[in-house]
Amino acid sequence: MALRCGLARLRHILARLLGVLGVLGVLGLLGAGHGEELLSWILLPLLGTAAGGDRDTSVAPLVLLGPNDLMLPNTEACQPRAPFLLVLVASAPAHVGHREAIRRSWGGARRASGYPVRTLFVLGLPDSGAEQAALEREAQQHGDLVQGRFHDTYANLTIKTCMLLRWAAALCPGAAFVAKVDDDIFLNLPALAHHLGSLANPHGLYLGRVHWWVRPNRDPHSRYHVPVAVFAGAAFPPYCSGTAYVLSGDAVRQVLVAVPHLVAVGPEDVFVGRCAHRAGLAPTHTARMGGAIRLSLDACCYGQVLFSIHGVQPAQMGHVWGLLGGHGWGEGPEEPTGLCTLLQWGLGLLRCKVLALFEKL
Ligand SMILES: *[C@@H]1O[C@H](CO)[C@@H](O)[C@H](O)[C@H]1NC(C)=O
Repeated sequence: MALRCGLARLRHILARLLGVLGVLGVLGLLGAGHGEELLSWILLPLLGTAAGGDRDTSVAPLVLLGPNDLMLPNTEACQPRAPFLLVLVASAPAHVGHREAIRRSWGGARRASGYPVRTLFVLGLPDSGAEQAALEREAQQHGDLVQGRFHDTYANLTIKTCMLLRWAAALCPGAAFVAKVDDDIFLNLPALAHHLGSLANPHGLYLGRVHWWVRPNRDPHSRYHVPVAVFAGAAFPPYCSGTAYVLSGDAVRQVLVAVPHLVAVGPEDVFVGRCAHRAGLAPTHTARMGGAIRLSLDACCYGQVLFSIHGVQPAQMGHVWGLLGGHGWGEGPEEPTGLCTLLQWGLGLLRCKVLALFEKL
């Protein structure tokens, strides 16, 4: 107990101290994540050309969906008008609770920062007919499932991602941006839509938390094994973490053009990164995506600073949504919530990272 009070006091004092530092303003710049973005501007041009063994220039025609690729095709989901931002959540058939938590919170929204948005769940085939019947009922009730005709297993995640991108290109070609997220993600749609809407050049965008210089797994017993014959490079090209990333509509098609040229080994996010690299798309790093959930973070961090948080369990989804002022079924803030003081906003990401650090104490 005494330790707790001591920690709370320490937290308080340090928070004050940070406030003073913030007045200096210099930290504010770093805090907004510019430090890492700076790193990405410097590193990417170097790595982008040095890394990866996938680059060649032949072009295959764009492969979209065949009539038998989809079990629940949901062809009408983007009608009558495509959203500005289409969010495709890669979900497992059994994760009914995850989908419900997302529908009740951020995923239920149809507008964010004035832009039309739409959230759909993408899955493969379950193990049993009973589960399939349940999914069909769920699809009928909510109209937000897209199901591919492949067995929904961990090893088939790359198939799921490719199908999800094909669905977007074939059945929602008018969407300016497509986000792929996992079903344990809290997505701050108002803040993300606002950011995407303010981009000076929205083309060729591949945005997320960039991983650099990841070496292929050469252990033949690993589920991630990448044979030298398939990928010979010492490191993968930089790629966005698969928990949450955004592609512009044109970037989706460019990635898909590259798909038939590459052997789909390794994790799905690495594969998308290799396709993007082959297509000449450089990832854009943002430290505002892909962080893990921290209970110590507040409405300022969740509402305005971060675009996505991962590792959020269904019960926690409501908690974070509540911090932003939401009460269920997508009824919540349409704009990024204005809960940061000027000082907090200036300290931005740095402040949220410091808060997150305290949780580990
Ligand atoms: C992936 O899906 C295909 C098509 O349903 C299936 O034949 C294959 O066994 C699946 N692979 C794994 C590893 O589950």
